[in-house]
Amino acid sequence: MTKKLRVLLRSNADHWAALLQSALPGHLIVTDAPADTGGDDTAYAVVGKPPPGALPAMAGLQAVFSVNAGIEGLIESGEVPAHVPIVRMVDEGLAEGMLEWVLATTLAWHRNLFTYREQQLEARWAPLEEIVARERRVTVLGAGHLGGRVALWLARLGFATRAWSRSPKQIPGVDCRFGQAGLDDAVTGSEILVNLLPLTPATENLLDLSLLSKLAPRAVLINGGRGRHVVDQAVIDLLRSGQLRAAVLDVFRDEPLPEGHAFWRQPGVYLTPHVAAPTHARSAVAAIAANIRSFEAGSPLAHVVDRDRGY
Ligand code: NDP
Ligand code: OXD
Repeated sequence: MTKKLRVLLRSNADHWAALLQSALPGHLIVTDAPADTGGDDTAYAVVGKPPPGALPAMAGLQAVFSVNAGIEGLIESGEVPAHVPIVRMVDEGLAEGMLEWVLATTLAWHRNLFTYREQQLEARWAPLEEIVARERRVTVLGAGHLGGRVALWLARLGFATRAWSRSPKQIPGVDCRFGQAGLDDAVTGSEILVNLLPLTPATENLLDLSLLSKLAPRAVLINGGRGRHVVDQAVIDLLRSGQLRAAVLDVFRDEPLPEGHAFWRQPGVYLTPHVAAPTHARSAVAAIAANIRSFEAGSPLAHVVDRDRGY
């Protein structure tokens, strides 16, 4: 029987549907919401923020595919019925994008590029002490699909790299720590802290005054995870006191960042508008289609979210 897949995206739904239709020619791909008259026969849904009520109306739903890697919004929305697996986005394009963004920002700070730019604006010639990567201590919080690759490449570039995760990990060249007991060792004395954790009850507000104060003096915070990992006021206070040299932020508690938020004008804050790792439709569709094909061939779905853990 032809299986139906609904693409419920606010933008580019037709483009995604066309790509999915060519990747899954035996399936029926539609972009409308299910009728609320009952009897809906959708097998799969591809969603960002689903319209309220749409997913519960799909009685035979077998899986919800998120176009995002971070699925805290989907869980918090309560829109995905408890028995329906949520599949998060795990895609090469996403990992490549995050790697580029973190390497770009890390290298820029390691080699003082923003500081030289400021000096240029004052026509000031003032070489700073330049150290090699192996003398620079960098920590990556989260060593999963994104953080694991970032830590690996930072180590390949020579940085003295530590990574922190929930369970033990082995990443070539990286000093891996895990669990609550490993957190202090992972961050203490770090000069560049990269956050790539998922947002869960255990990680919300983790980057507070106490944790950020354990970094080396004049450290740089790079946040590509979620805004709610960071206590905003702590970042502002530590920038003002000089303990933090800079905060490179891609994600915020409220997005778009509200006009009046202190981050817009705080010296030392460098922000990008949640673009560190955009989902690329072509590679994301290939990942979803491959998962569906192997599921229908009898394998379990890959990348199913553990709702109790929150990621
Ligand atoms: P993964 O699930 O692959 O990796 C998450 C990592 O965090 C794992 O190493 C996990 O440990 C670790 N972790 C989770 N909870 C804890 C905890 N309580 N203590 C210690 N470590 C913990 O996620 P991804 O790498 O794919 O994505 C990470 C996040 O990046 C997303 O959730 C999203 O918020 C953000 N993101 C941001 C984007 C952007 O454009 N700014 C784009 C895409 C994602 P373990 O390995 O032991 O499970
Ligand atoms: C994601 C994101 O989680 O875009 O994929 O932040």
